[in-house]
Amino acid sequence: MSMAALPSQQHQPPEHDGAASPGSRGRRQLQGSAKRAVVWGAAITALGGMLFGYDTGVVGGALLFLAKSFPGLTSFDKELVTSLLLVGAAVGAPGAGALADRIGRRPTLLLTAACFIAGVLGAAFAPWFWFLVCMRFVIGLAVGAASMVVPLYIGEMAPPSTRGSLVSFNQLAITTGILVSFLVDYFLGSTGNWRLMFGLAAIPATLLLVGMLTRPESPAFLVAHGRERQARQVLGRLRASPEDVDDEIAQIKDVARTEGGWRDTVAPRVRPMLVVGLSLAIFQQVTGINTVIYYAPTLLHGAGFGSSASLLANVGVGAVNVALTIVAIWLIDRVGRRPLLIGGTAGMVVGMAVLGASFAAAGGSNLSGGTAVAALVGLGVFTGSFAIGLGPVFWLLISELYPLRVRGHAMSVATVGNWLANFVVTISFLTLLSAIGADGAFFLFGFLSLVALGYFAKAVPETKNRPLAEIERELGTAA
Ligand code: BGC
Repeated sequence: MSMAALPSQQHQPPEHDGAASPGSRGRRQLQGSAKRAVVWGAAITALGGMLFGYDTGVVGGALLFLAKSFPGLTSFDKELVTSLLLVGAAVGAPGAGALADRIGRRPTLLLTAACFIAGVLGAAFAPWFWFLVCMRFVIGLAVGAASMVVPLYIGEMAPPSTRGSLVSFNQLAITTGILVSFLVDYFLGSTGNWRLMFGLAAIPATLLLVGMLTRPESPAFLVAHGRERQARQVLGRLRASPEDVDDEIAQIKDVARTEGGWRDTVAPRVRPMLVVGLSLAIFQQVTGINTVIYYAPTLLHGAGFGSSASLLANVGVGAVNVALTIVAIWLIDRVGRRPLLIGGTAGMVVGMAVLGASFAAAGGSNLSGGTAVAALVGLGVFTGSFAIGLGPVFWLLISELYPLRVRGHAMSVATVGNWLANFVVTISFLTLLSAIGADGAFFLFGFLSLVALGYFAKAVPETKNRPLAEIERELGTAA
């Protein structure tokens, strides 16, 4: 039996399970060793999310020093090093999804960790520029795989009462990885040691590999492959009571029975939400977050900041990103998805407008005094607004918007769309800068944020506190 529809049932927020599942009786909160096992397991798996963040973030600082080893690099060469990772991710995400259904989540995560180790060590010891570019593709395969399989596995191991927050916990791991990469860039900046910047990721990657060796296969995969007895053993260690184990096994069997394929995923009933998910994915990228995450040091350096000041400002951006993600996790089940998404996107418009205006006031480059402060404020407002809204809300919504039976397929469409849009923006950003200047580029992102704001206000439904089955009925996507 294929597992395509299983992954995301695991993302159901707590209140969803009761309504949607067969035979769920009120569950008890996890305590003691079961709680420790779940939290420890999620922490090990989240190393994959951290690596996603680290490997995408570290390149910003490394770019400043690549020319020391490879003289004569052009803007396009820098864009290649940055964006080949994203092409790898667009391939790795669906590839890992399919592999996880076939060979299991645990072996896929082990392979992902091995791919991370090979890629980052290859990049660190790259003898030629082209070798480095290829290694960035290999790292990308692992990043894409992690972006699909980490939330999938965490969700499947987590008890229903903590699934919602654990999905967003993955975004926290991503932003923490980005912040750590910025700190590493900053501290290694004085040595210009870009090889170590890339290579240090081998440490969390090895921890992920070793940690995953101690983890069991997910119960959903085991049940779908006829290994119910083993699934019961695994769940027995991770759930509060034998009744919870029975309920969950029944739910998994139910989902596996009603699984749909690609034809169901693009059926007229589901298509509107497929469009919403894909639009969120594309807007998350074309509004410019990764031009900030990947290129802020290059940009600030070019605008007159020293290497060290650029890398320090970057650390500030990373810290704002983590802090506001924590606030989002706290708010997301309280105020709902739409207020965070709409408020956050409005903040992104303001941030980009301030950023564009500060570069315009400085004549397109050479920020100093007031314009430098304004640019930093704009960067902070934009990043913080993304972190409280579109950052986490996109990943959460794509796990909630789709009917259970096609959720795995629909999520992979949105995930690939996200990586491809990221690729297009990243590969063209430095070229865009030379064509229309930093002010023009940021005004353009501000305009796109405004378009996104209008679209979100009109098209994105609220999913807070509503059973997934009810969302399916109201959106008209139920079978
Ligand atoms: C996005 C990434 C981005 C990160 C920044 C994620 O939600 O998908 O592309 O780099 O947020 O925090």
